Amino acid sequence: MSELPDHVLRNRAHWDSLARDYAVAGERHWRQESPGWGIWNVPEADLGMLPADLAGKDAIELGCGTAYVSAWLARRGARVVGIDNSEAQLATARRLQREHGLDFPLLHGNAETVPYPDASFDFAISEYGACLWADPKRWVPEAARLLRPGGRLSFLTNSQILMLCAPPEEDRAAGERLLRPAFGMYRVEWPGDPGVEFHPSHGDWIRILTGSGFEIEDLVEVRPPEGATTRYPFVTVEWARQWPSEEVWKARKRA
Ligand SMILES: C[S@@+](CC[C@H](N)C(=O)[O-])C[C@H]1O[C@@H](n2cnc3c(N)ncnc32)[C@H](O)[C@@H]1O
Repeated sequence: MSELPDHVLRNRAHWDSLARDYAVAGERHWRQESPGWGIWNVPEADLGMLPADLAGKDAIELGCGTAYVSAWLARRGARVVGIDNSEAQLATARRLQREHGLDFPLLHGNAETVPYPDASFDFAISEYGACLWADPKRWVPEAARLLRPGGRLSFLTNSQILMLCAPPEEDRAAGERLLRPAFGMYRVEWPGDPGVEFHPSHGDWIRILTGSGFEIEDLVEVRPPEGATTRYPFVTVEWARQWPSEEVWKARKRA
């Protein structure tokens, strides 16, 4: 059995320790019938994260956490599998499966090496999961391997400009100054925070996606509606109405 990379081990311990605080958000999202994405809960109609017809399709959520996205896919008729690096997050997901009477496979593992054969899925998705916490040079080629030709990948993560303006203290909101260089900002470790995040530049994403066999279909810069709220302190709605705080990438595996 191969050893896990250090960022995967560190993020496992980090998410095992955060899981208890994430359960409430998971419970709320499981109760939500229509998908709402990201920290602003932007409706699916505005972002189009999901293929129109998921019924009977094989789907995988990479870094599923409490697995509410997987639940939304299952309710649309997809045969969904969730994989997550944190057993504690999956414990919440399993409890919520029981409470909502929904059953689909949940795997404990690293989304950079998924124990499924090539071309097992029609759709792969990540909302602040593997797309933020796993190494894009590893998880994107793995998503391409898992998808059938023509299969689709959607993911939502922090925008690059937010990362350039985000103060190191996580309880302070982004301001109107660039606080760090854009060049070299691929792997990010925040002071005093044990987690490891990945924030590639747009050029990096384009090269990694196309080099892994994807065609890029869209990059949506997320703008929350006026008056939107978030429980996260790192950005205000006034800021996010002027600059994108989140971005959605949509790609299709070349046939
Ligand atoms: C913020 S949650 C994402 C789930 C959900 N969409 C949400 O926003 O709460 C991040 C999840 O990514 C998982 N994760 C981090 N690194 C991972 C990896 N290498 N493979 C699979 N999951 C990973 C964490 O364990 C955590 O449950």
